[in-house]
Amino acid sequence: MSHGKFITLEGVDGAGKSSHVEWIAERLRAQGHTLVVTREPGGTPLGEKLRDLLLSESMHLETETLLMFAARREHLAQLIVPALARGDWVLSDRFTDASFAYQGGGRGLAGQRISELENWVQQGLQPDMTFFFDLPVEIARQRLTASTANPDRFEKEDVAFFNRVRKAYQNRAEAFENRIKVIDSSKSIEQIRVILGKCLLSI
Ligand SMILES: Nc1ncnc2c1ncn2[C@@H]1O[C@H](COP(=O)(O)OP(=O)(O)OP(=O)(O)O)[C@@H](O)[C@H]1O
Ligand SMILES: [Mg+2]
Repeated sequence: MSHGKFITLEGVDGAGKSSHVEWIAERLRAQGHTLVVTREPGGTPLGEKLRDLLLSESMHLETETLLMFAARREHLAQLIVPALARGDWVLSDRFTDASFAYQGGGRGLAGQRISELENWVQQGLQPDMTFFFDLPVEIARQRLTASTANPDRFEKEDVAFFNRVRKAYQNRAEAFENRIKVIDSSKSIEQIRVILGKCLLSI
């Protein structure tokens, strides 16, 4: 049975993920793939409701993590797994690396806890390729402030939080160097597209 590829985009808020989603999607369509473009938390009607809660309500750290994985379970069941089984490709703005980075690195939840949920919910399914948009947190903050009128619950966190998130992403990029491609997001959008284009040819 043909099986599509699963690509995810990661990085701190303001790193440039959303700026590249449509360009990557167009590039893959040009390569002949049918593409499903989605995001986390969210991607399904229920997941988008959970997203609204997650981005606005304060809650216990474990509640936050469980809701992220509840939304992910639904996302996998309703959208990701069926698409890949049809042979479509899936491009998601954030996935489980973000749980390790934000709930793990940023908020201090034990990685083991997150791994347990990852194993439960994903049953071994992992992205085929992940782009980690990396840049100094101060630059990401400046870009975000310039483009966002109403920051959400995560975007309101301080620089120290985002430095922990970034460090956790960097650690994962080292641990999974075959899957996670580190993109220097301080470069221009045009320069980044050249790098992304090369990576996409190798997948
Ligand atoms: N390489 C770049 N050079 C300069 N500005 C950029 C670059 N990439 C993105 N930006 C700008 O930075 C801002 C944040 O980018 P974007 O919304 O893509 O980030 P994001 O990673 O999706 O953030 P979030 O996690 O909050 O959704 C936007 O205004 C965007 O135009
Ligand atoms: Mg975005």
